[in-house]
Amino acid sequence: MTVYNFGSINIDMIYRVPHLVKPGETLASRSMSTVLGGKGANQSVALARAGTHVQHVGRIGDGDQWASKQMSDAGVDIRGVESVAGPSGHAIIQVDDNGENSIILHGGANQSFDATALEKHLQEATPDDWLLIQNECNGIQTAMDIAAHKGMRIAFNPAPMTPDVAALPLEQCAVLIVNETEAEQLAGTTDPDELLNRLAEKYPQSRLVLTLGAKGAVLHSQAEQFRQQASAVDVVDTTGAGDTFVGYFLAAMISGLDDQECLRRGCAAAALSVTVAGATPSIPDAAAVDAFLN
Ligand code: RIB
Repeated sequence: MTVYNFGSINIDMIYRVPHLVKPGETLASRSMSTVLGGKGANQSVALARAGTHVQHVGRIGDGDQWASKQMSDAGVDIRGVESVAGPSGHAIIQVDDNGENSIILHGGANQSFDATALEKHLQEATPDDWLLIQNECNGIQTAMDIAAHKGMRIAFNPAPMTPDVAALPLEQCAVLIVNETEAEQLAGTTDPDELLNRLAEKYPQSRLVLTLGAKGAVLHSQAEQFRQQASAVDVVDTTGAGDTFVGYFLAAMISGLDDQECLRRGCAAAALSVTVAGATPSIPDAAAVDAFLN
């Protein structure tokens, strides 16, 4: 079983600032660092550190091979990562003193896919395999169609949310993982008590996971609904916490753990990730998550 993760690879430029910059303000940063990020790469690294075989399908700009090397070093199968002309995707990230962030994205190589490339990288996939997707690459509908045609199971994390997501064939997804903003836009309500019910009506075949940041996560499936509280930790940087949750949740689900335990592992890994700066550098390995849970 392989998770094919069709996802972004970003160069994250992280600026520590006393507060998130306001309109018209010029603000000096306290420090700046450059690390591997992107929701796709983060989720691949989380899956690999959780012990799952993950093959990343993605693109970087020529000259940024250090990024795919770091993914490989983390245990990600990078046979499906191509170098293309032009810039890599990148993110300009402000992180304030409370660990909160705001992010500007440039799509770069993440927006250069076509059907031929996706068919090539998914050609060996079988119905035993999963396709994981986020919303930072172009070609999502095509990837979903290829996966559905092959009988693969699809997990989708529509982050960052855009208006076109609602038109995707989300009923094909075995797993949908959304935060509150994404859930509100898909469900068409801002009532927190109604979000999961509305999503369940729209996507009755999917396992739905609603992430709530510092308040934990809720899972809804045909059989049951579970809630998991988040652990209280000292927050350094929340960048990549949602991605860490997705990787660990999916890894636990694929390994056959029950729903409550999958939520527990996802929340534990995400809690650990916010105690360390940066996206991929903050994603814990399975031993650290086990130790935290024990
Ligand atoms: O989810 C965090 C990620 O969002 C960052 O690594 C950044 O690259 C943006 O894609």
